[in-house]
Amino acid sequence: MHFLTNVAVALTAAASTYAAPMEKRAAAVDELVGYAAGTTGGGSGAGTTVTTCAALAAAAKVGGVIKIDGLLDGCDIIQVKTGNTSILGVGANSGLTNGGFQIRKVDNVIIRNLVLKVAPKGKDLIDIDASTRVWVDHCDFASVGITGDKDTYDGLLDAKHGSDSLTFSWNKFHDHWKASLVGHSDSNGAQDTGKLHVTYHHNLFENVNSRLPSIRFGSAHVYSSCYNKGPTSGIHSRMGAVVFAEENSFTDTKLAIVTNLDSEEDGFASEKNNLYVNSESRITQTKSLTVPYKYTVDAAAGVCDIVRKSAGPGVVTF
Ligand SMILES: *[C@@H]1O[C@H](CO)[C@@H](O)[C@H](O)[C@H]1NC(C)=O
Repeated sequence: MHFLTNVAVALTAAASTYAAPMEKRAAAVDELVGYAAGTTGGGSGAGTTVTTCAALAAAAKVGGVIKIDGLLDGCDIIQVKTGNTSILGVGANSGLTNGGFQIRKVDNVIIRNLVLKVAPKGKDLIDIDASTRVWVDHCDFASVGITGDKDTYDGLLDAKHGSDSLTFSWNKFHDHWKASLVGHSDSNGAQDTGKLHVTYHHNLFENVNSRLPSIRFGSAHVYSSCYNKGPTSGIHSRMGAVVFAEENSFTDTKLAIVTNLDSEEDGFASEKNNLYVNSESRITQTKSLTVPYKYTVDAAAGVCDIVRKSAGPGVVTF
C-alpha cells in the first residue's frame, strides 16, 4: 500500500506545476452514471462550433453536437427541441450569461462544461420539460446571490411535466435562491407519478437558499455531494417522492434532508453515511430506494475537497 501511494504522489508531482492537494477520489470524473445511463446526445462527431447567440439558436433547432466557444451574453432562452443533441462548452469559460436553455419534449440530450450565469428574469438557467434522458454535467450555475426578490430569477436546473431518466453530476450550484426543482406542483401527480427519476452526484451546493433539490412524486438518489451554507432547506422530499441520500457532507445547512415542508403530503427519505456539521435533518417517513445502476461513492468526509477541485467547467474539456 505504501509503495502504491508513493508512486501516485510522484506522478502527481511530475504532472503539475503547483502544489495541489492530493485528491483521493474513487469516482471517475468523465463518466455518465445514474438514471440517465444510456444517454448519448449527439454522439461523438466534431459537430458545429458556435460563437454567437444567433448561431447557437439556429444550431439548437437542428441538434447534433453543438460546441459553444466563448461566454455568449444575452441569448435569452435557447430552445432545444431536437433530440439526440449535445451542447458542450469549449475550454473552461464558455457558456451563457443572461440566457438559458429550455429542453422541451425531447429525448437524449447532454449538456456539459458550461458556465451559466444569470437567467433572463423569471426564467430558469436550464428548464427540462416533458423530456427524457438528459445528462447535465460539469456546469457552473449561479445568479447574483441570496439577495433581492427570491423570484427575480427562477431555478438553476429544473425538471418537470413527467421528465424522466436524468443525471446531474459534477456541477457547481451557488449564490442563488432556488437551485433545482423536480416536479413543479402538488397537483401534477397524474403526470409525474412513476416518472422524475433523477441522480445527483458529486455536485456542490453553496450559498443557495433552498431546493437542493426539491422533488415531488419522483425518485432521487443524491450521493457524494457537498453542501455549504444553505439557510432554509436542503434535500426536500414532498408529495410521496422517495429520496436516498448517501455520503453527502452538510455544513451550515438548515433542514439538510426534510420531508414535511410546504406541501400537502410528506415525502420519504432514507439516508446513509451523511456528515452533518451545524446541520440537521427532519425525516418524518422512510422508504428505501433501490437504484438500477452501478455507481461509486466517495466518502462524505472528502467530498467537499473533491467537488471543489473536480466539479464545474474546465475539468473535462472539449
Ligand atoms: C435519435 O436517434 C435515434 C436512434 O438513432 C432515432 O431513432 C431517432 O429518430 C432520433 N431522434 C431525433 C429527433 O433525431
